[in-house]
Amino acid sequence: MTQNEQRTKQGLNPLTWKRGVWLLFAGLVVWCGLSVAQPQPPAGLPPDFFQKLAATHRPSELTLRQVMQEMLADLQSVITGIALDNKEQVAEAAQRLGTHKMPKGGLLPYLPADKQDQLGVLPAMESIIGGGAQKIIAAAKEGDMAAVAQQITPLLQGCVTCHALFRGTPGVVSLPAGATPMKP
Ligand code: HEC
Repeated sequence: MTQNEQRTKQGLNPLTWKRGVWLLFAGLVVWCGLSVAQPQPPAGLPPDFFQKLAATHRPSELTLRQVMQEMLADLQSVITGIALDNKEQVAEAAQRLGTHKMPKGGLLPYLPADKQDQLGVLPAMESIIGGGAQKIIAAAKEGDMAAVAQQITPLLQGCVTCHALFRGTPGVVSLPAGATPMKP
């Protein structure tokens, strides 16, 4: 009896068996290819940080500035909702704020090159904004506008901390070499 006949007798169809080995091999090649192609997050960030971000923040064609302008508009809408006791407005605006879009090309290209060693703070920023928005939504659903208002301060601290680190100094313009400032 040949080896193949023996395998067939044992219930191992030689074709199926060989196909299985090939499939395993092909799977391994694809898996290796994918893990090489997958961009690794910079040092200081958990390896799955960007995968988690992608789960709650959809990609967009916007710049980071445009995303920020939308976040500011949503924050203002939360505040309007508090002032006018509109819990639907608060919950919906907080939902948009917490799940804001990702800018085109992801977050990192918009952050200054000399601040790359500070990227370790990003998961904390994400949980302050995302977690803060969730608390606001929960309080709004209860109709507890005082609790919503209390959550605004820690959330704003998230905006301020991130800007202090990554935004530079808004309004301060360094003049090009040789330029003379205009007289008021
Ligand atoms: C992950 C860090 C981070 C967090 C958190 C963050 N920002 Fe920003 N924000 C930035 C950076 C970086 C810029 C500068 C972007 C640029 O100039 O390209 C910016 C700029 C802005 C701008 C100016 C946009 C313009 O037109 O120049 C506004 C408004 C803004 N953020 C609002 C907010 C608000 C409101 C929050 C909180 C709800 C917030 N940001 C949270 C990083 C952050």
